Amino acid sequence: MSSDKKRIGILTSGGDCPGLNAVIRGVVKSANGLGYDVVGFLQGYEGLADPVRYVPLNNKNTSGILTQGGTILGSTNKGRFAATVGVSDRLDLDPELLAAVQVTYEQLGLSGLICIGGDGSLAVAQQFHEYGLPVIGVPKTIDNDLSATAFTFGFDSAVACATDALDRLHTTAASHGRVMVLEVMGRHAGWIALHSGIAGGAHVILIPEIDWNFDDVCHKILERQNLGKPSTLIVVAEGAEMPGGEMITVERRQEDRQVRLGGIGNVVAAEIEARLHRETRTAVLGHLQRGGGPTTFDRVLATQFGAHAVRLVIEGRFGEMICYNPPHMDSVPIIEAVNQLSTVNANGSAVQAARALGVSFGDHASTESSATTWAESTEEHEEFCEPAVEEMLV
Ligand code: F6P
Repeated sequence: MSSDKKRIGILTSGGDCPGLNAVIRGVVKSANGLGYDVVGFLQGYEGLADPVRYVPLNNKNTSGILTQGGTILGSTNKGRFAATVGVSDRLDLDPELLAAVQVTYEQLGLSGLICIGGDGSLAVAQQFHEYGLPVIGVPKTIDNDLSATAFTFGFDSAVACATDALDRLHTTAASHGRVMVLEVMGRHAGWIALHSGIAGGAHVILIPEIDWNFDDVCHKILERQNLGKPSTLIVVAEGAEMPGGEMITVERRQEDRQVRLGGIGNVVAAEIEARLHRETRTAVLGHLQRGGGPTTFDRVLATQFGAHAVRLVIEGRFGEMICYNPPHMDSVPIIEAVNQLSTVNANGSAVQAARALGVSFGDHASTESSATTWAESTEEHEEFCEPAVEEMLV
């Protein structure tokens, strides 16, 4: 590929999420406007070496991708550039692989490489930086678990998907008087469960950051039953530990990929059914949360990340990650973002607000506060699509 122009590389790495294409478009449009070519590497970091795989990106082939889910460049969360969690647990890259990546930089004349990824992918970017390769990070994940940015793009879209699922589960749960358990993603952070649980009017929210137990979950279900509300909606984060500390997984950690979480929804539902003899059903939302187009919030965030990442390349701010520090776009050393996961503050305003509304987190504190509210007030809790049948009968 020959050109006298300066050139920026871009890649999307790790699990895909809505908004990746919006970042790519933001990078290409703003870079072109500033006189830079852009090349996109295929299948994440894999496209950087042996064999090198890339496509020139321009206004034409990135037109219309703003609203598209997934990534036109492809992605992977396993392989030679294995995903790692943070820097303490990281797998060091093969020095020969790093040398091959350096050759690719030189042959394509890259001024910088924009790596769009979550904690594992950005830990790889950090190793590029330490090796002396000019790299800029863009925070991506539906899990919202990267520190140093208020939000990652993809999170809002995942929450919208989970909220829509809860809206639908309310009506079927109410019709059958059932307990419904919705399992959502998020790895070791409860952000998706908390935000969708609040937005979707869940009655119980179980997250990794708050220890919970079955007695208190069942107490909430019975409390509702006693108020004449036979249905209960529970949102459980895939990474919420069981009361004994066990993590439910579908696949153990393999050499080149992280442990796969999942299955807790069914375990929770089975135990509730065994204890209360109440019909309980589970819905596992899975990859629906990662598919489809981005919300308006994610489109705006991703577009800004793309344009500002180009600015960081031009300013030579290598080893930094663009971040959203409302109301400003800011940047931090990548290492700050990957050193520690961002998790829900168990005493934060969102949890407090949910508790104030009577949402149970399956802990004793939830039961204690609801006992007070329950005894002191005959007012019904806010209800959703659950008409009192007797009142409707003529
Ligand atoms: O990190 C994003 C995420 O969707 C997590 O919420 C989930 O645990 C994981 O990726 C699933 O990964 P995979 O697509 O490899 O099953």
